[in-house]
Amino acid sequence: MSEASEPLGIGIVGVGGIAVSHMAALRTMPEARLVAVCDVDAARAAEAAYAGRCTAYDDVDALLADPSVDAVIVCTPNMTHESLGRAVLAADRHLLMEKPLAMTGDGARALQREAAERGLALAVGHSHRFSDQGLAIRDAIDSGAIGTPRFVRVAMNGGWIWPGWQSWVLNPELSGGHSLHNGVHLVDLASWWIGEPAASVFATGQKTTSAALGIYDYLVMELGFASGAAAVCEISRGERPRSASYLELTVVGTEGVLTREWDAEGLLAWTDTGLAAWGVDGGGARTFRRELEGFVDAARGRRPVAPPVAAAVHAVDLAVASERSLATGETVRIEVAA
Ligand SMILES: NC(=O)c1ccc[n+]([C@@H]2O[C@H](COP(=O)([O-])OP(=O)(O)OC[C@H]3O[C@@H](n4cnc5c(N)ncnc54)[C@H](O)[C@@H]3O)[C@@H](O)[C@H]2O)c1
Repeated sequence: MSEASEPLGIGIVGVGGIAVSHMAALRTMPEARLVAVCDVDAARAAEAAYAGRCTAYDDVDALLADPSVDAVIVCTPNMTHESLGRAVLAADRHLLMEKPLAMTGDGARALQREAAERGLALAVGHSHRFSDQGLAIRDAIDSGAIGTPRFVRVAMNGGWIWPGWQSWVLNPELSGGHSLHNGVHLVDLASWWIGEPAASVFATGQKTTSAALGIYDYLVMELGFASGAAAVCEISRGERPRSASYLELTVVGTEGVLTREWDAEGLLAWTDTGLAAWGVDGGGARTFRRELEGFVDAARGRRPVAPPVAAAVHAVDLAVASERSLATGETVRIEVAA
């Protein structure tokens, strides 16, 4: 284990698509160092280790036996999260789990409990919370610019969510369905901005690309909150051209409205007394660095994990409820822990 004054030794398990973003962020951080990678695809692990100048493993137990690994980022397909998370925590390593934390609420709570009992940092890759726009909206709400948030609309439509889908994503047994795969980001943002956990979910979906799809590529999730606030979260590949990314974020408060529709415009706050604007570029490069800086600080005991694990558990509960609503056509109530 490294000393607190040394860079935190990071191991990455699963070096496919998203691991690249974590590796790029790590290269810019003096307070952490990539020391090992692991992938069941040994050639892929070797290639990533060469690029990252670190040790390659094709077996997670071997990576966890490496004393230079202080903390692990798990970037594997969703159905592996719970078992790999348990292995990492059982080996007394801090854990940054890519979203979703697990595929079931019980699985997510088991990881939350295990980390708490062992005094380990458990962070979850809700990366949208660390984007310029995600933070700007939270800051604007905290500044009181729009009063109390009552309604959120998060629309993320674009081809970008399609080309990145590997075969396991299209299999609901392996990904948990679209609600758990991409939807979990949106419901997390909505309840973060509203400022309370959601109490109900109603979801509808369409298979726009092909009726043969195993998951709904067009998905709308409506959230209800105990305070009476509401949110609509929409994610689809419906945008044309498919290379485009259409984003619309709206937060309606008691005193004003925040909107973000396209990059050049930034974030706008409309109130009865005027208009304020924040310049946010929506660029992704800082997102993963911010997320990792928070994780490293939490592992070193310098600040609490952000977002709190309870929020990531709640996001899993909402996404699972959304899948149930899709299957039953019913509104699903969520039990919110006191
Ligand atoms: N935060 C975000 O914005 C974001 C974006 C994309 C993906 N993700 C999440 O990241 C995770 C990975 O997604 P991806 O798109 O990189 O997937 P991917 O399929 O591109 O890569 C997954 C890698 O994990 C390896 N792997 C599978 N099982 C393994 C195991 N048991 N041990 C070691 N390696 C294993 C595979 O060989 C592959 O190289 C998913 O949970 C996904 O939901 C998050």
